[in-house]
Amino acid sequence: MRKIILLLLIVVSFFSCYQPKVAPPQEVKGAIGENAMVATTHPLATAVGLEILKKGGNAIDAAIAIQFALTVVYPQAGNIGGGGFAVIRLADGEVSTLDFREKAPELSKKDMYLGPDGEVVQTNIRLGHLASGVPGSVAGMWELHQKHGHLSWSELINPAINLAYSGHLLTEGIANSLNEKQNNFQEANRYQPWVINDKGWNKGDTAIQKELASTLSFIQKQGRDGFYKGIVADQLVKEMILGGGIISAKDLIDYQPVWRDPIKGSYKGYTIYSMAPPSSGGIALIQLLKGSEHLGFEKMEFNGAEMLHYKTELERRVYADRAVHLGDPDYYEVPTAALIDDDYNKTRFSSIKKNKKTASSEMKEGDVAPYESTETTHFSVVDPAGNAVALTTTLNGSYGSSVMVKGAGFFLNNEMDDFSAKPGVPNIYGLIGSEANAIAPGKRMLSSMTPTILEKEGALFLVTGSPGGATIITTVFQSIINVIDFDMGLQEAINAKKTHSQWLPDTLFIENGGISTEVQLDLEKRGHAIRFKESTSKINAILVLEDGSLEGGADYLRSDSYAEGF
Ligand code: DON
Repeated sequence: MRKIILLLLIVVSFFSCYQPKVAPPQEVKGAIGENAMVATTHPLATAVGLEILKKGGNAIDAAIAIQFALTVVYPQAGNIGGGGFAVIRLADGEVSTLDFREKAPELSKKDMYLGPDGEVVQTNIRLGHLASGVPGSVAGMWELHQKHGHLSWSELINPAINLAYSGHLLTEGIANSLNEKQNNFQEANRYQPWVINDKGWNKGDTAIQKELASTLSFIQKQGRDGFYKGIVADQLVKEMILGGGIISAKDLIDYQPVWRDPIKGSYKGYTIYSMAPPSSGGIALIQLLKGSEHLGFEKMEFNGAEMLHYKTELERRVYADRAVHLGDPDYYEVPTAALIDDDYNKTRFSSIKKNKKTASSEMKEGDVAPYESTETTHFSVVDPAGNAVALTTTLNGSYGSSVMVKGAGFFLNNEMDDFSAKPGVPNIYGLIGSEANAIAPGKRMLSSMTPTILEKEGALFLVTGSPGGATIITTVFQSIINVIDFDMGLQEAINAKKTHSQWLPDTLFIENGGISTEVQLDLEKRGHAIRFKESTSKINAILVLEDGSLEGGADYLRSDSYAEGF
């Protein structure tokens, strides 16, 4: 039945508008595939990935096609105007990671977001033209294709062009998110981009994006130059000049993605590969797993008071390290080896008390705003040969800066907010930073994105990742310990209620319905300030089962996510 639905979805969506009507799986098991699996945040993007794999494309080809398709069908986070990170494990076991994170424009300055009173002007760093870093996604996809592509570049962009040109029908989630941002769209643009709709968007409305189709066609014909040079680059630079932004033609031409050594660690016999700085994800994840090994979560009741107390104390220490020590390694000497060292972490976590929370002021002080949720997207792919890709990509906030480049039909990111605009002043995720993550021309802003691949006895085991700003790291951490320590199947691990803490704000966030009143009272007695919230967790992951088949887990409870294999 799933195969028939999917076939229909591919055929119809490429030639006309199509509303995906995919019922979420009823049982707790995820999708099962004998040979290959794709898990993304939108059924149409999953369909594109599967189509590429069935044509003989490898996992990297599928990832490239998905990235472009998400730009069309998931415009709040899918992007060509943003950036991201990819972790790749080839079937022969070689692991590489690509950083296609945005960069600060050459004209940026350390104090560029401070007003005359010395305070951060929040609107400048979050909304409008000045909020954008130099986009990295198209250069990233081009680089992935140059190194690992099998099908032609042109074939990989076709599905996205078809979706943009012919249109697709909006899901309820996307219609709602477009409605929420109408004021931002009005404020950030000097014209009426297609997303502005006075009557409001509804599920089933058609999104036709001819300008985006044309931009994608330039990229299809000219590769990375179709974005960083020529008509699209001119449109972007004109947008900047008219809107008061600072990204220049030279910034675009100069943009280069970077292959970085993965962060590698071990956890109970599993090998973990994740993203190195400028993402904090890999280092923080390894620290959390080392803490988990030290504290022995597997002996505790899942999401009971004891486990949540220790997990919270662990997370607070790891995020305090993140705030002080992490930034772009091309600009700041990040003490990577020291931070993931066994002895360092043992000592760091030995200060955790059994029954009492440590005051944040004993770790470090700060004054921060509450956490706010926005958008990023993660997808996972495994192909029939066993190649795997974990890729997380974002515009930062939902629809990024809200600026849609006139004539080109794509949103620009507001990633400059991931820098520490002023030491100790929190960004949109309540994260604070210091000198390590200060703004400098050409520098990459610190990220929390954590695309991650695990091996068991040298073989592929788990491909995982999530959106969620600061909560990305703890969400990925939970996806791993839920499977390894609490014996959950992948879908069960994804469905399970998540919790999060990050040193500052000094709060333990718990997904609505995540704990009993008894556990809540116990945690409060130990000193934790609890706040319930909707989760931003949207893990899309793939687990290799004992018989070698693949379980695709998509976060269908919290989003339109969809996994399918064959
Ligand atoms: O790079 C980062 O860590 C952030 N820009 C990610 C933003 C995000 O995940 C928003 N998602 N829900």
